Amino acid sequence: MMSYNPRDHYFKKAKKENFVARSVYKLDEIQKKYRLLKPGDCILDLGASPGSWSQLASRTVKPQEGVKPQEGAPGQVVAVDLKPLTLSIPNVQFLLGDARQVDWKEVLSNLGRSHFDVVLSDMAPSTTGIKFTDQARSLELCELALALAEEFLRPGGNFVCKLFHGGEFREFKLQMEKRFQQCEALKPQSTRSQSKEIFLIGLRKT
Ligand SMILES: C[S@@+](CC[C@H](N)C(=O)[O-])C[C@H]1O[C@@H](n2cnc3c(N)ncnc32)[C@H](O)[C@@H]1O
Repeated sequence: MMSYNPRDHYFKKAKKENFVARSVYKLDEIQKKYRLLKPGDCILDLGASPGSWSQLASRTVKPQEGVKPQEGAPGQVVAVDLKPLTLSIPNVQFLLGDARQVDWKEVLSNLGRSHFDVVLSDMAPSTTGIKFTDQARSLELCELALALAEEFLRPGGNFVCKLFHGGEFREFKLQMEKRFQQCEALKPQSTRSQSKEIFLIGLRKT
């Protein structure tokens, strides 16, 4: 088996483009394919540390002249993680803690909004190496992300979450299909070949 080389193509590319992590290219590929983030949008980034998705989201939603936001302040990212971000990012409000414990209604109301335009989740559990435990914990985080999207994502809004592929994949995708007009699964090219992660993308919440 090939050994893991941290200085791979995406690692170097991230450094060159000033992103804090190579995982940015997973969201970048999803964004290039589905255009789910738009200038002026308000994004919820769940599991944001060290911060590369928030960096890309911040750059993408930065308001452009003539583009009106749906509601409230334009071009915002709200990010949450159990661990701190490693840098401060323009237009990103960072909350340190568990996504389950945040008062999201209050966060939105402070932004003058009732909903997010996009909910992203790259949340991952700390892995134990025990396949079924890790898959079950990953599924739990996806269910949490979907529940937050159910409540705080606007109709027509988009959703992404990361799942460690396992037996529950189909069941979870079915749950998503009930809530979004289009539902896709993608293993980005920048995902390491040995990784079991897959991204589920829900477009246009019903
Ligand atoms: C793969 S990392 C995210 C990388 C990030 N998207 C980036 O591009 O920099 C997964 C993160 O999920 C966070 N996480 C796991 N469970 C969480 C929870 N319940 N609430 C908030 N963050 C959580 C972890 O602390 C970890 O930092």
